[in-house]
Amino acid sequence: MAVTAYQNYDLAAALLEAEGRFADANPKSAAAYAEACKSLPGGNTRTVLFYPPFPLVLSKGEGCHLTDIDGHEYVDFQVEQTAGIYGHSEPEILDAIQAAMKDGITLGGPTEREAKLASLFQERFPAVELVRFTNSGTEANLLALSTARAGTNRNQLIGFEGSYHGSVISFGTYGNKMNVPFPWNFCTYNDIEGTRAKIQDLGADLAAVIVEPMTGSGGCIQAHPEFITMLREETKRVGAFLIFDEVMTSRLSPQGLHGKWNLKPDLVTFGKYLGGGLTFGAFGGSVEAMERFDPRRKDAFAHAGTFNNNVLSLSAAIAGLTKVYTPERAEKLNADGDKLRGRLNEVLKKTGIAGQVTGIGSMMMVHLTPDPLNGPKDADKVDSALRGLIHLALVERGYYVARRNMIVLSLPMAEKEFDGLVEAFADSVNHYRSVLPRI
Ligand SMILES: Cc1ncc(COP(=O)(O)O)c(C=O)c1O
Repeated sequence: MAVTAYQNYDLAAALLEAEGRFADANPKSAAAYAEACKSLPGGNTRTVLFYPPFPLVLSKGEGCHLTDIDGHEYVDFQVEQTAGIYGHSEPEILDAIQAAMKDGITLGGPTEREAKLASLFQERFPAVELVRFTNSGTEANLLALSTARAGTNRNQLIGFEGSYHGSVISFGTYGNKMNVPFPWNFCTYNDIEGTRAKIQDLGADLAAVIVEPMTGSGGCIQAHPEFITMLREETKRVGAFLIFDEVMTSRLSPQGLHGKWNLKPDLVTFGKYLGGGLTFGAFGGSVEAMERFDPRRKDAFAHAGTFNNNVLSLSAAIAGLTKVYTPERAEKLNADGDKLRGRLNEVLKKTGIAGQVTGIGSMMMVHLTPDPLNGPKDADKVDSALRGLIHLALVERGYYVARRNMIVLSLPMAEKEFDGLVEAFADSVNHYRSVLPRI
């Protein structure tokens, strides 16, 4: 017989209680957060890392494990929002950074590293005929969008409601008041006919459509093949660029999702793990789209950036692609992710909780809703208290996941970590089942 823990015990009460236990268990993080609030607005310099009552303050990472300043250990399934694919202490990456440091940093000229990394991108990612490097995914997307506008001599852009392409190209939870003032037109992710009509309507004014082939922070929801095919055909028809934001998703196969699906966007943007765990971004594509960056041309587009070729990121990136995240390991990690997602979905089914774990390969997200999920707007409808509760429940059980309930795999993980997460997830949903949506 199902027993309700307390009278009036509902979702809000459960979350409040979980936050109370979290605060009691983490006095040093609480004190560090109070200190940070004296000099950082809300104690924070990265919005996505805040959650109430305060975030855990970390002190160390090793392999796929983290330690916080109160001395708790966690298995890290947050994986630095996908960037931490190598874990926290991969020897090949550490060696590459140390070797680069010995030869001097901030040299102020090209080294052989940027050409080496560019050739690795050409080998890996079929859409990349030429590439340039940046310092972040946000910057890569800004450059790709600007390349499209300058290259087509057009202004209008299409993005998808709820999608995230960087701190000033954010169409979701954080609102858009901070966004770069490009002339945006918004369509609904996976809405084939609505988007086709918008592309045709803008016609010769449309510079580009930017899309993630699977939304990352927007719910780990895959673009339907017919939707993507339509985007490719219609953008081509009106002479606009199709930009694939693969800042997160390029890890989902040895060739990124565009390679896996045999699609050729005009430009693809990259970031996250490709810098070997250091600051990084890149945008690349067809010769036609990229050749204007050739500084020998009279009509060249300029693209500066003091740290575009910083030796540490480039060295870590090269080591990562050549020695660690080989095509074989990419296949294996994503197969492990598919298996794990299946097991988590099985837990929901067995416990009678209405929910689904979406994603592809090594990236996934838990959504406690029975409703179909076609895009970020649908993922946004899930009660944030449910996300908060699952997040704190997993953290309490020693599994560090993103607040939005995103779960990401890294290379040092093995069956032990996967089994542990499945067990912690089952225990969490069982513990809170009286306040979770039921099938
Ligand atoms: C799909 C996508 N594009 C772009 C970005 C921005 O990358 P960065 O945080 O390196 O600026 C992110 C970051 O999460 C992302 O998920």
